[in-house]
Amino acid sequence: MIQQNLQLDAQGRLRHFLTTEGLSRQHLTEILDLAESFAMVSGKSVKKVPLLRGKTIVNLFFETSTRTRTTFELAATRLSADVQSINIATSATSKGESLLDMLHNLEAMHCDMFVVRHADSGAAHFIARHVAPHVSVINAGDGRHAHPTQAMLDMFTIRRHKGDFSQLKVAIIGDIMHSRVARSQIHALNTLGVGELRVIGPKTLIPPAASTLGVRIFHDMAQGLADVDVVITLRLQKERMRGALLPSEGEFFQRYGLTEKKLALAKPDAIVMHPGPINRGVEIASSVADSPQSVILEQVSHGLAVRMAVMSMVLGRQPLGDSGAED
Ligand code: CP
Repeated sequence: MIQQNLQLDAQGRLRHFLTTEGLSRQHLTEILDLAESFAMVSGKSVKKVPLLRGKTIVNLFFETSTRTRTTFELAATRLSADVQSINIATSATSKGESLLDMLHNLEAMHCDMFVVRHADSGAAHFIARHVAPHVSVINAGDGRHAHPTQAMLDMFTIRRHKGDFSQLKVAIIGDIMHSRVARSQIHALNTLGVGELRVIGPKTLIPPAASTLGVRIFHDMAQGLADVDVVITLRLQKERMRGALLPSEGEFFQRYGLTEKKLALAKPDAIVMHPGPINRGVEIASSVADSPQSVILEQVSHGLAVRMAVMSMVLGRQPLGDSGAED
């Protein structure tokens, strides 16, 4: 098990943000509340606030990304931090430099935060254990383990549309087994007191231990989707699959792809979510992804406010509930 309290300082405040697991409801709610004030900043003509002026943030993306990397860059810029995104392919790691040597060299340039995406589960925790005391680490997705800022922008989106988590039935569909997003969502939803949490998918894509995570397991879409308020679809994480876990994408879509017909089994005002990137015609039909019930692009917008909130909390400059925005 990966160490949890590494991400809290002696006062119990977020020093790193590595996982939603083990954080209190108060921590998660503070992130959501602060993100609300940053969402207001995004609607203003001048979108910058001076909260992280003088801080240096380095993005280390060892894996591909569109949404997470761009919103972290924009969020840092809007907080007035200096931000550098290292191109891993052209960095000195290709000359044999180790990860730790790379980090220590970047620390020597007086950086204050690393935002890390890595294919290996536990990579962000490893880095957090080795950085200087003044440096913070945010996990931007590690292997199949965790993607905490994605989960928090998803919580933000759900709260905005549906309010009280305790009244909600939420279903997560598809490749639970390989999904760091699902894992982080499950911890966050349970901590925030969700009414009922379901996972739906084939036996090969739901880990046997899922029932210990406080979810109800369904292998049948009609049963799993009945009466739910929030439907979360997931991409098949083929890059993390070992061996053939599915007969074919076509068969997967037939049984578990979210079509208008299957969505009609949920509540009429159910929202449809997806962390992206979406594979149309595999886990979701285009007609659903582009429907009025879809909040997929809203999730992306909310990523900016949530990442601003997390960065400002972790760097300890932000009194909670005050974004520092000027009218
Ligand atoms: N949701 C998500 O992590 O997307 P990216 O891989 O594009 O960052």
